[in-house]
Amino acid sequence: MGDRRFGKGSPRPALLERLPSSPGFWRSPVRGVRFTAVLGLVLLAGLTLLFVTGLLSYAAYNPDLAPVNDKTPGKGLLGFYLFAWPTGPHWLYRLTQGLHVTVGIALVPVLLAKLWSVIPKLFALPPARSVGHALERVSLLLLVGGALFEFITGLLNIQLEYLFPGSFYPLHFYGAWVFFAAFLAHTGLKLPRAVRVLRGGRLEGSAPGEVDELASPAPAAPTVSRRGALAMVGGGSLLLLITSAGRSFDGPARQMALLTPRGVAEPGPGPNGFQINKTAAAVGVTAADTGKGWRLTVGGPAGEIRLSREQLLAMDQYSAALPIACVEGWATSDQWWRGVRLSDLAVLAGYRDRPPGVLVESVQRRGAFRKVALRDNQVRDPRSLLALQVNGEELSLDHGYPARIIVPAAPGVLNTKWVARLTFGEL
Ligand code: HEM
Repeated sequence: MGDRRFGKGSPRPALLERLPSSPGFWRSPVRGVRFTAVLGLVLLAGLTLLFVTGLLSYAAYNPDLAPVNDKTPGKGLLGFYLFAWPTGPHWLYRLTQGLHVTVGIALVPVLLAKLWSVIPKLFALPPARSVGHALERVSLLLLVGGALFEFITGLLNIQLEYLFPGSFYPLHFYGAWVFFAAFLAHTGLKLPRAVRVLRGGRLEGSAPGEVDELASPAPAAPTVSRRGALAMVGGGSLLLLITSAGRSFDGPARQMALLTPRGVAEPGPGPNGFQINKTAAAVGVTAADTGKGWRLTVGGPAGEIRLSREQLLAMDQYSAALPIACVEGWATSDQWWRGVRLSDLAVLAGYRDRPPGVLVESVQRRGAFRKVALRDNQVRDPRSLLALQVNGEELSLDHGYPARIIVPAAPGVLNTKWVARLTFGEL
């Protein structure tokens, strides 16, 4: 039947049929609200987990503790939930950030399939039928744009490391809030429908009594069933999971992490042969900075003292088995660190009981976390060390020789390497 808006013999209806704004343009029989609903429910679970673990990762940096830690000083009310990141269990950040990055990678096929399943709607004309419809479309722009933005910035950051020096944190943090606000609105609108159509049980065909605007009005012959298409998406996710999750473990599991930096092989043999984020050379640390002339300055109410490495080694030494867990989602298993307790250094600085937080400064010349602040609960934990040795050997230069911080459950970048100065109480 011709379109009544156009005169007889007019070529325009045929042309319109061939544009993406026409429902007839999209012919896959796989599309339909049931298919979209299944993917939507998977995203609901997965993206909620990503949002929560992302907020936890942000809290773990102690951005509310001191300006040196805060990469998003204009966050205002968005920091309402910040809390003192605990030091136990010692694998906490390894778990939350491993989940954040690994689940994010595994959800890529699901997100792409979801966008593919709703693509006819993105082209639908007229752009807005009413004020309400216009608002809904703007929220969809924020939802789709926000989802793509978060995935792209996250993936680039893992793969290319500090592609956005200093700016990744604000981009990913504010982007997450914009995305999640749109995600909540979309879920509120669509969840009842998703549950209703899936209650019908069958995946193939249309849901009885529902107008299925996502199904093609003129479907092409099927080449795969909806079940088959979902299995392909699930298979893609599983493959990504298998080829990225291993970088949170050691041994054969890491060998399988083919797709991610810090996967595949450990950097060299021996006690220091475990993953490193930044080498000494990458941040401008030279042999002269860390040689015989190196001294640790400890400051506090008792004044300033300067300690050589030999003097530090002459203090009481303690051991702690702790992992390095990076914001990029990779982690090592527990390593045996040995050195001086931070709380003992606080005593030298003049804090006999209840040590406060500490400002840690590195000799490194470059890098966003050259200076960081640690909270009092982190200084007080008996496993928090200024480590001098690892796995029974001196620290290697790339692991922070002459001395580095190691704190249970803290993100890798708070475990400052090549420490030059500790100032207790002044953050
Ligand atoms: C990254 C997350 C998501 C993106 C980018 C996204 C995107 C979209 C878009 C662009 C549409 C078409 C617009 C429309 O029908 O009005 C849509 C439809 C739909 N979405 Fe989502 N969505 C996401 C998450 C979810 C979640 C979590 C659910 C389930 C709770 C869901 C369920 C649905 C359903 C059932 C439809 C079709 C509804 C209908 O035809 O009325 N989506 N989605």
